[in-house]
Amino acid sequence: MTNQELILEAKKARERAYTPYSHFKVGAALLTKSGKIYHGCNIENAAYTPTNCAERTAFFKAVYDGEREFAKIAIVGGADGADTDELCAPCGVCRQVMMEFCNPEEFQIILANGEDNYLELSLKELLPYGFGPKNLAHVES
Ligand code: THU
Repeated sequence: MTNQELILEAKKARERAYTPYSHFKVGAALLTKSGKIYHGCNIENAAYTPTNCAERTAFFKAVYDGEREFAKIAIVGGADGADTDELCAPCGVCRQVMMEFCNPEEFQIILANGEDNYLELSLKELLPYGFGPKNLAHVES
């Protein structure tokens, strides 16, 4: 799975975004280490705070299916689903959800606005000094 292919999947996912309030449509394509793709879109809510970001939709679908090993995620976002020059970076809550399931040094996050215009960063770069399961290892064992 190339980065370009994963970005195209994220664009497909963006078409499903439910955004009657912000009109900002985001799509995510999450690649498992076993090679499966989980798509996610943002799903807004009249009460605003229950809104779910595209990245978390993809993660939660995958985890429900029993997947817990992830390689990378591609994210595309823009007003009204239009292509833009801007890159859409995951919010802090989504970075924290990634921290739960991903190795921060290995997991790659592709911020894209086109197949050939993207930035690829590790979770550690986007969430330095992140708090994760390892911080609670002594509590759990
Ligand atoms: N949003 C995402 O889905 N992912 C991001 O990475 C940033 C923000 C959504 C939430 C909301 O529906 C809209 O974009 C505007 O914040």
